[in-house]
Amino acid sequence: MNSFEISKKAARLIVLQRIEIANPLLKYLRKILGRYIFTNIITKFFLSTQKVGKKYFKIMSDEFLTIKDQIKNENNKFFLSIGGGVGGLEAVINSNLNNKNFYFIERNFISKKIKYGWGGSLNSEAYNDVFEQKNFLLNNEMKSSQINIFDYDNNKLPKLKFDIIISLLSLDYHYDFNIYEEYLREVSTQKTKIIFDTIRADYFNDIFKNVHILNTQVDTVHKSKRILCSDFKDKL
Ligand SMILES: C[S@@+](CC[C@H](N)C(=O)[O-])C[C@H]1O[C@@H](n2cnc3c(N)ncnc32)[C@H](O)[C@@H]1O
Repeated sequence: MNSFEISKKAARLIVLQRIEIANPLLKYLRKILGRYIFTNIITKFFLSTQKVGKKYFKIMSDEFLTIKDQIKNENNKFFLSIGGGVGGLEAVINSNLNNKNFYFIERNFISKKIKYGWGGSLNSEAYNDVFEQKNFLLNNEMKSSQINIFDYDNNKLPKLKFDIIISLLSLDYHYDFNIYEEYLREVSTQKTKIIFDTIRADYFNDIFKNVHILNTQVDTVHKSKRILCSDFKDKL
């Protein structure tokens, strides 16, 4: 694989999820025409699926390299993705590491006027479509038997113990970790590795026994850190 196979609908979602994929002209149009027109018109009609597929693949392959060493152990079988978008990272993981089972928790709507800020516990922004997500994964070498998608708003989340939990630019980047804390305690063991992006890495020293900073992102909106956490501390 050196590019993703994507539909027009997926291209739109991908650009909303990863705004860096929009070319400078599209970003300029977003600035002068506003977020509503960008979200609802520009991204529906003015995207090249080929270019988006190529650029998204490159970005996700680079993201994979930032976590590869932490996840590659063959005993890691059950992967949970929180806010994984259409699932480009998991498609790359699948093409590099064999025989994994992927669980996804996502949302099934697109906000009318997306603001890429900190939503705290309100957590009202989303830009995905779980039907398109499944299509994307099937079109990019994942087998149906490996794919388990859960809609966060349906309240029925998967209840098994995961080996790896990944949330890039989503958990504690756009919305508060607390929303998921109880759930994550339930579905992890002492060994589960939880990887996510945050601007408050130190805060997690009170929550986990192990917190490692994998890297610092200087070119994202929030200048976040990617952290790897494991082994929840008991609650006081
Ligand atoms: C900035 S995008 C990042 C997507 C992907 N992780 C990536 O790195 O390309 C944030 C994603 O989080 C999703 N999201 C928002 N709230 C969520 C929630 N409570 N649970 C799971 N996903 C959520 C959005 O729909 C969106 O796909």
